[in-house]
Amino acid sequence: MDLKQYVTIVENYPKEGISFKDITTVMDNGPVYKYATDQIVEYAKKVGAEIIVGPEARGFIIGCPVAYALGIGFAPVRKEGKLPRETIKVEYGLEYGKDVLTIHHDAIRPGQKVLIVDDLLATGGTVEATVKLVEELGGEVAGCAFLIELSYLDGRERLKGYDVHALMKYED
Ligand code: PRP
Ligand code: MG
Repeated sequence: MDLKQYVTIVENYPKEGISFKDITTVMDNGPVYKYATDQIVEYAKKVGAEIIVGPEARGFIIGCPVAYALGIGFAPVRKEGKLPRETIKVEYGLEYGKDVLTIHHDAIRPGQKVLIVDDLLATGGTVEATVKLVEELGGEVAGCAFLIELSYLDGRERLKGYDVHALMKYED
């Protein structure tokens, strides 16, 4: 299946000059959403994932069905103040300013093989921060999986040394 034909390109969103990749038209099509999920499930099996970690919000959309299909757990990474118990946190750079991501302190067991899942790899900042959280808890990052990689932003470079898998790549 050619997944790209189900991604809607929205020009000049959220601002002038940005060519936004809208995945809602992948998700609202049952067979297509299932196909995309199944591709990541296969990758998760290949790398031996024991738990899925996904950053809010779009990481949940892709990561949760993968965890469900495998019958393994899902641990959410959230913005500061959203998780109710003790957390660890990491600051990460945004285009303008900084944000903070958190994870529950006991979300991952030391040595557990973790697959990080998000919808999109752009600059890599979000997943780089997620990797730091996982490793601080003693987890082993078995791989990072995405629906889409924006190759021209070189996020892969920031994830050097980690296995990165993307179902679709865009060069511009
Ligand atoms: C988007 C996307 C990725 C991230 C990719 O999330 O869902 O998580 O940006 O960009 P990066 O590789 O440059 O970090 P966003 O922060 O817009 O929030 P959302 O998932 O809550 O919509
Ligand atoms: Mg996101």
